[in-house]
Amino acid sequence: MEVQNLIDLSDITREELKEIIDLAGKIKANPKDYMHACDGKLMATLFYEPSTRTQMSFQSAMLRLGGQVIGFDNPQNASVSKGETVADTVRVVSGYTDVVVMRTPVEGAPLAATLYSKAPVINAGDGGHLHPTQTLTDLTTLTYEKGRLDHLTIGLCGDMKNGRTVHSLIRALAPLEGNRFIFISTEELQLPQYALDFLDEHHCEYAFASDLESVMPELDVLYMTRIQRERFASLEQYEAQKGVFVLDAAKMAKGKEDLLVLHPLPRVDEITTDVDKDKRAGYFKQTEYGMYARMALILTVLNKSGKKEEIEVPDGVNCHCHNSRCVTNAETYLPQLTYAKEGKTVCTYCDSPIEE
Ligand code: NCD
Repeated sequence: MEVQNLIDLSDITREELKEIIDLAGKIKANPKDYMHACDGKLMATLFYEPSTRTQMSFQSAMLRLGGQVIGFDNPQNASVSKGETVADTVRVVSGYTDVVVMRTPVEGAPLAATLYSKAPVINAGDGGHLHPTQTLTDLTTLTYEKGRLDHLTIGLCGDMKNGRTVHSLIRALAPLEGNRFIFISTEELQLPQYALDFLDEHHCEYAFASDLESVMPELDVLYMTRIQRERFASLEQYEAQKGVFVLDAAKMAKGKEDLLVLHPLPRVDEITTDVDKDKRAGYFKQTEYGMYARMALILTVLNKSGKKEEIEVPDGVNCHCHNSRCVTNAETYLPQLTYAKEGKTVCTYCDSPIEE
């Protein structure tokens, strides 16, 4: 049996994704039927970065399936604080458990972990790069609250540059027919080039806006995001971007009657609390869908995936990727993994171009 990792949603087929979303709906409707589905199974949560929803929804998902959970939520309490590498931590923990869930500020670290893990690895967010299980949550919410994943005009507002939830969501929705994006942000926080390239490759229509109010009437979905303070070089740079886009009841009045407002949470000041009582505010429901989506994912991964008997890491010169947040800069023993895109060599860990 192959090991089924989930580093990006592209690791599974469209059909498998649909099956997971369908299963999430079934579990939500009849949770008791799944109470023992993971009896005797153990999940590790390695959280190198703060998290409330992702961590607790993964933990409650596994516990509700009858499985058990071990892990850390503060790397200061784990051997990483003594200088242990990701490779060693994962090699050991995956020997104890059946599935490893990892959140980290280091881009590409979950992919690096797959090379050394005996058990399947699930990416619960890596730096500003990807967050596939938030996207699974978002797609599940859209499926059940909006009734479709295609022919949608989606406004993405806030931090397009550093928001990993945005990057993963674009990868999932851009290939689907009739979807159109409007990116509402300051110039400084616009999407990275690789995300724009992805949209172009998929011939997906998109536009940029610097004002939320004026685009409100066009939107089927508004996906608000937090300005990612922890990814800024200085507090001054963050302060300059904070509070530029705020959704309030007055702006909601300009939106369609069937608009759906989503937010991966936590919110800071980008949605005022008077929006919470609007029936179009879907962000708290979204958190519950997240737990059912993760239950469906864990169950699918454990049913499909075996564990490796031996770990065979490819040799290779280490690559010093020019992205300072890339795992290859922190963990210099890693083999070089690249792919070619439009004549450029791209780092497989973090998807940034490597300048030769
Ligand atoms: C997001 C994250 O961690 O990227 N939160 C989450 O997983 N629900 C969004 C954020 O932190 O802004």
